[in-house]
Amino acid sequence: MPRPPATFATSRLVGRMPRADDAPAVFNSYACDPEVTRYLSWRAYDRVEPLAAFLRECVAHWEKGDGHLAWLLCLKGTDTPIGSIGMTMEGGGKVMFGYVLARKFWRHGFAAEALTHLVDWSLAQPTVYRAWAFCDVENTASVRVMEKAGMVREGILRRWHVCPTLAAEPRDCVCCAKVK
Ligand SMILES: CC(C)(COP(=O)(O)OP(=O)(O)OC[C@H]1O[C@@H](n2cnc3c(N)ncnc32)[C@H](O)[C@@H]1OP(=O)(O)O)[C@@H](O)C(=O)NCCC(=O)NCCS
Repeated sequence: MPRPPATFATSRLVGRMPRADDAPAVFNSYACDPEVTRYLSWRAYDRVEPLAAFLRECVAHWEKGDGHLAWLLCLKGTDTPIGSIGMTMEGGGKVMFGYVLARKFWRHGFAAEALTHLVDWSLAQPTVYRAWAFCDVENTASVRVMEKAGMVREGILRRWHVCPTLAAEPRDCVCCAKVK
């Protein structure tokens, strides 16, 4: 598969590779907010340094080209992150997505805009047949985002994902995909 673009643009957003020096801005924008991480696989950060280490790992994934790609999302014309979207090349023609936005940017269609762009990019690659994502059964906004990106709800993945902000036990998730 061709290397995914390090930078992409939609009508209102730019997605770009993270840098370790984005940590303070990412921390303040969304990573410190337990309301944002409610259904995510990570807890809200209480310090900037571990987040900088995570962003360094994201950069290392890009450099290794191991199929774990993360972009920071900025409003066009700015370089300040308002969210992030990730894409994992799983092999066997599958790519999986995840996304997060700062609370003050919810309900403007930004997540659907970024996801639609990357779903369409991935399915335009000859060797990708399935673009998919999952979210907690209670995360209705995220289910809508997937549907707005053209994914179809396929079913429930029972006991699929731990949201440490909520509970230690794995919870049921909705699985959606767009295929060709
Ligand atoms: C999920 C999330 C990314 C959605 O981002 P967003 O930019 O607000 O999403 P969009 O505006 O593109 O679309 C959201 C859709 O869900 C709806 N929605 C938003 N919040 C909702 C809520 N609390 N309950 C029900 N529907 C909701 C919106 O009305 C919209 O649907 P519509 O266009 O048909 O009206 C954002 O809420 C977020 O970052 N949440 C925390 C992180 C997270 O849960 N990520 C997903 C993990 S799988």
